[in-house]
Amino acid sequence: MMHTTTIQKKIAVFASGAGSNTEKIIIYFASHPSISISLIVSNKANAGVLKIAATYSINTLLIEKEKFFTQNAYTDELKNLGIDFIVLAGFLWRIPKKLIEAYSNKIINIHPALLPKYGGKGMYGHYVHEAVIDAKEKESGITIHYVDEQYDHGNIITQIKCSVAENDTPDSLAEKIHQLEHQFFPSTIEKCLMEQKDSLTL
Ligand code: GAR
Repeated sequence: MMHTTTIQKKIAVFASGAGSNTEKIIIYFASHPSISISLIVSNKANAGVLKIAATYSINTLLIEKEKFFTQNAYTDELKNLGIDFIVLAGFLWRIPKKLIEAYSNKIINIHPALLPKYGGKGMYGHYVHEAVIDAKEKESGITIHYVDEQYDHGNIITQIKCSVAENDTPDSLAEKIHQLEHQFFPSTIEKCLMEQKDSLTL
């Protein structure tokens, strides 16, 4: 008789900030049959996302700059924990080559604008929305993409647009963008993982 055993995929979410996306991701996968959120990684000891991790009893890893950029980039720790896939949800450090090589095509990021516009170093959170409003853009949106060694640069998985009204402010645009992120990021992560998924036939 053939049995198909589903291999569990373990995700680590990297985040530096409040963690609203991380919370939506945790909730979305809470009872998923083959994908689990196993670890929350942060570079900020006081990040809101660490409180969210505690609320949902998810393990955390606080990372240090020197080890991340000049030593092993925590690849051994992540591999030892069995992490298969990395999601950047408001993580503000560039990802070093060592980690990209260890997780080739297995790291994705969300950016709060329509890349390649309004991306790159220093373009995060509020700065992005201020730049979009200053440029009087008629639309903005979100980009979910694979991560390479340059900020906001790898292959694009999906983009979802929203309109920018004349009376929008950076705050009101941020709110619209967050809603899009919350609505589309978890299911896009799931799709990426399902496409890469192995199943073991016994
Ligand atoms: C999100 O809007 C995400 O797109 C952005 O940080 C925010 C994190 O919000 N990421 C970047 O700007 C990356 N360049 P959250 O902490 O509430 O999830």
